[in-house]
Amino acid sequence: MKQRILSGIKPTGRPHLGNYFGAMRQFVDMAGEFETFVMVANYHALTTVHNKDVLVSDTKDLILDYLALGLRDKGAAIFLQSDIPEHTEMAWVFECLTTVPYLMRAHAFKDAEGKGKEVSAGLFNYPLLMAADILLYQPDKVPVGKDQAQHIEYARDTAEKFNRIFGEAFRVPEAHIQSEGSTVPGLDGKKMSKSYNNTIPLFATDEEIDRAVALIVTDSKKPDEPKSTQGDTLYALHSLVSPHDLPMITKAYEEGGMGYKDLKALLAQNIKTMVAPLRERRAALAEDPHIIEETLAHGRDTVRPIAQETMRKARELIGVVW
Ligand code: ADP
Ligand code: TRP
Repeated sequence: MKQRILSGIKPTGRPHLGNYFGAMRQFVDMAGEFETFVMVANYHALTTVHNKDVLVSDTKDLILDYLALGLRDKGAAIFLQSDIPEHTEMAWVFECLTTVPYLMRAHAFKDAEGKGKEVSAGLFNYPLLMAADILLYQPDKVPVGKDQAQHIEYARDTAEKFNRIFGEAFRVPEAHIQSEGSTVPGLDGKKMSKSYNNTIPLFATDEEIDRAVALIVTDSKKPDEPKSTQGDTLYALHSLVSPHDLPMITKAYEEGGMGYKDLKALLAQNIKTMVAPLRERRAALAEDPHIIEETLAHGRDTVRPIAQETMRKARELIGVVW
């Protein structure tokens, strides 16, 4: 029996190289070895997206992105969070087990509060919907980027608490976090994130790639001067995108001999080489008018019985059926 993994990404804007190297690539790499469930977290997106047309188009786009990466060909089930009503049902049960002070420690909540944002109840409870997303499927591992580690801890704690109070219903899953390049830096050196506007989109056009790479912040060292690889955004991106050229690039950093202009041109070229076949594949898939519905139907049929079975057991254990 294969072990199971489950993960998800919110359909909020175009995925970027941070999402790809931090999360999506792992799903594809692991899909052969593990039974793989990948969720489009549209109810989580609702914490920030309040526009029907935007949500619909970002949802469809993310499904095409996953298909273009070859996730379905590797056997993964791709499903929509809102197609499985057990997620919100389970989340309510978890909300009744969880204290407010514990949820107040969540980074995402503290961040939003710190910035003086109005925090919705949905954003506050976000970790518990995510716990439901995960625990309903009894996965062994949850592959995510480093910034999601705390959310996985919430899911683990919630599973343990439920099991202790009501009896065994949930497997306690492990986070699976890529250690190499665990936080991909954005153009400005901060974490690459849609919310910081510092991204290189994964399915960018060649022009977009050139424009983004030109904006990568560097210091003002001359071409022949040695440069520091530590904390250098351009180097960090090369180490993900340019594995074949990396010995040469590292040498150029340590000993000098290559300017940032050339290092950027090489990065842009290597991103294009990586992205071009994905982009073509995505365009071809987008021609098929049924592909999204068909993918979601397959995902729904694959995963729902598992969620229903866990929910049935949980309902019995808490005493709403007997
Ligand atoms: P964003 O910050 O752009 O909104 P999300 O929060 O939607 O990205 O993240 C989706 C997935 O991609 C998560 O698993 C997250 O850990 C991963 N991820 C996002 N940004 C990065 C990054 N800069 N480096 C590594 N992983 C990332
Ligand atoms: N919170 C995750 C993010 O922002 C998305 C997500 C929702 C998720 N549910 C999940 C990730 C379940 C893994 C498992 O990226």
